[in-house]
Amino acid sequence: MIQLIPAILATTEQEYKDKLKKIEDSESLKEGWVQIDLMDNKFVQNQSIKAKVVAKYPTSLKIEAQLMVEYPENWIDELVKTNVDRIVFPVEDVEGIEEKIQHIKNHGKQVGLSLNPETAVEKLTPYLGTIDGVLVMSVPPGFGGQKFIPQSLEKIKFLKGLDLKFMVGVDGGVGEENVKQLVESGADYLVMGRAILEGDIEQNVETIWEKINS
Ligand code: DX5
Repeated sequence: MIQLIPAILATTEQEYKDKLKKIEDSESLKEGWVQIDLMDNKFVQNQSIKAKVVAKYPTSLKIEAQLMVEYPENWIDELVKTNVDRIVFPVEDVEGIEEKIQHIKNHGKQVGLSLNPETAVEKLTPYLGTIDGVLVMSVPPGFGGQKFIPQSLEKIKFLKGLDLKFMVGVDGGVGEENVKQLVESGADYLVMGRAILEGDIEQNVETIWEKINS
């Protein structure tokens, strides 16, 4: 069963609080997951809240923390002590990917690798036997509301075709116009910012399910 995961891209603590509460108050999403974007204004040209803000607001939602940062190790050490359930960091990271994967797993958290649009799927090969998930970025990371990159569908199909245990998520420009194709490509979870959080959540989620089941 496909999972719909709302994405919180927050540059201030207040924005984080407001978006988190909106999801916690939502009948259709309050039992599920939330993805929190963490950015350092180096790996991506945007600056988000820090890990300590995530720790400050405990939630019953399951949390995927997506690191879009130059030195994930600096963030991972803090995040593994919080209530996050999955930590995703970029396969474009410069070194020590295997060690970071192990470190996150040693703390009982799920671990995923994100793949930027310009990065070949083969870069993931050395890690696919040890990670819990791959997050296929279908926009350049760092901002919400961008246009979905259709080539992402081929990456999802290739990864699912390997028939290994890791899940495949997709993130960026996901919305009613492409969710059906994404489900048909085999994606396990869809991360959405604007398509879920802008306006009425319940109406947005209903529209997404209608498109998936159409
Ligand atoms: C982009 C973030 C995405 C983004 C999704 O860097 O990783 O999670 O917030 O926003 P939409 O769904 O609006 O493209």
